[in-house]
Amino acid sequence: MHYNWLAKLPPLPEDFSQLDSPHALAAWELSQFFSEKGYHLELIPEMGDRFQIHNNIISGGETGLLYGAYAAIRGLLSGAPIPEESAPCYSLRMINCWDNMDGTVERGYAGRSLFFEGDQFAYDPARLRHLGRMMASVGLNVLCINNVNVHEPAQGLLGELLPDLSALADLFRPFGVRLMVSVDFSLPLRADLSTADPLDAAVQDWWSRVAALVYREVPDLAGFLVKADSEGRPGPFTYGRSHAEGANLLARALKPFGGVLVWRCFVYNCKQDWRDTSIDRPKAAYETYQPLDGQFDDNVILQVKNGPFDFQVREPLSPLLLSLEKTPLALELQLAQEYTGQQIDLYAMAPMWQEIFEDLPTNRIQAIAAVSNLGRDENYFGHPLAAANFFGFGLLAWNPKADPTDMLSQWIRLTYDFTPQQAETLLQSMLRSRRIYERYTAPLGLGWMITPHSHYGPNPSGYEYDAWGTYHRANHLAVGIDRTAAGTGYLSQYPEALQARYQDPATCPELLLLFFHRLPYDYVMQDGRTLIQRIYDDHFLGAQEAAELEKALRALPFPEPDRLVILARAAKQTANAANWRDVINTFFYRLSGIPDQKDRKIYE
Ligand code: GCU
Repeated sequence: MHYNWLAKLPPLPEDFSQLDSPHALAAWELSQFFSEKGYHLELIPEMGDRFQIHNNIISGGETGLLYGAYAAIRGLLSGAPIPEESAPCYSLRMINCWDNMDGTVERGYAGRSLFFEGDQFAYDPARLRHLGRMMASVGLNVLCINNVNVHEPAQGLLGELLPDLSALADLFRPFGVRLMVSVDFSLPLRADLSTADPLDAAVQDWWSRVAALVYREVPDLAGFLVKADSEGRPGPFTYGRSHAEGANLLARALKPFGGVLVWRCFVYNCKQDWRDTSIDRPKAAYETYQPLDGQFDDNVILQVKNGPFDFQVREPLSPLLLSLEKTPLALELQLAQEYTGQQIDLYAMAPMWQEIFEDLPTNRIQAIAAVSNLGRDENYFGHPLAAANFFGFGLLAWNPKADPTDMLSQWIRLTYDFTPQQAETLLQSMLRSRRIYERYTAPLGLGWMITPHSHYGPNPSGYEYDAWGTYHRANHLAVGIDRTAAGTGYLSQYPEALQARYQDPATCPELLLLFFHRLPYDYVMQDGRTLIQRIYDDHFLGAQEAAELEKALRALPFPEPDRLVILARAAKQTANAANWRDVINTFFYRLSGIPDQKDRKIYE
């Protein structure tokens, strides 16, 4: 038995033949809870995802009824207010799985793929229905099932594997979940065309025929997701074409069927020479896409990671999200904790999302996606508490202004039978978890001090002399990169108000200080401490807080098997945090030669 926010709902029936639509499923879910009083469902197709709840009548479109039913059930079980009326902020609320057909999951920390094994589709329908229910219960409606790095034989998803794709789409349809697939830009080459050039008529024709074939099998496919010219993936640059030309090629093939083309903007030079200071990786996405604004077809969505680097524990908002005026945008978040503790260390993301939406007006983006943290582990998420990130993401995608405390307390109340005091202990632990992780890892917005490739644990110079563009350039005097006009000029990509916020080290938010500025170790911070002392203090504090977190979790009566998993991971986190503390402090002590003012143990 695994616990998550659906634990208090009865299991889904094994025979799903009657539950063949969101409407039917909504009625079934409600009947499990409200057999006496009852809710009546009133289907108003044009309401779509929206719903209203008045006098025990839930009205909405097919999916609206389902979301209304889950809102009522969540309210009943958690005490959260049941809205009288609700509509999602974004129509596409997407989970991006990075699953490979050999069963591995790129950056997956919850076991092997839920969909694939041995180069074919291989899944337990009951578990995938549970996934569908998890998604629908928090309003998520698009599931991209395969890795953006498309490896063989996933290219076959648009060909010989279409019948399997179609069967999977059938399985998810009652949950209001539509599938999406990641496609390889060079696919025409596989079909024996001599080019994949987006301006080539034969290539255009080929994609149109493929799209027609795909939509015949899966008429409600949400669309394609593409990673092109990024980290070795093929793309339009091979043919001297722009990313607008590349994206429009696929968008035009999808257009007759109502599909969208989601094009990722994670494009940068990953073969940089570390000696070359003229390139600054965070500038890359803006430089590539800003000049193309206005050139994309209307069913293209550009998907942009929240920060200009790559899902570090703290980054400023990607300036691309604030600059494109004429192109629909999707925000991409990462639930998989690649750089944030890999579902071993506790890391509740809601507070981080809140910060993102402080800078990102909700109407600047049209869709929202998150890289999945799912896997075949019994609890789906590796760490039982990582389920809260998936749950919270759904609520955030529905309403980006959702309050982190509300989301997390609702999740706790749905998941565990705790006393109010126990629930509060868990809530506070989760709310603090991101800052704690941040304190013991790379300091003040620097990022990237993780072990290369695995991305777990410290290695301050692991990426320093490498080709990935992720440098701190620490020497015996100073650390960080000046990204103001006097430095790389990255700052000029922001609107003026943000330029003003980050421009001056004296007023720049301290948690981003070393992202924007290069500073000497004896630089005096706002509270009078030197930069080096702040680094030491944060690392001692972060490691101590990780140990406190473990203690708090040990005192809570988690049911088994959650308890065993949570405590084993908490112990690993405590050890990881102590390791980070010592490695980072020693790294800076050796460089700077400046001792800790409080004379704590820093290794020579
Ligand atoms: C990160 C991650 C890769 C992934 C890439 C992406 O760099 O380490 O595994 O492929 O992001 O977002 O495409």
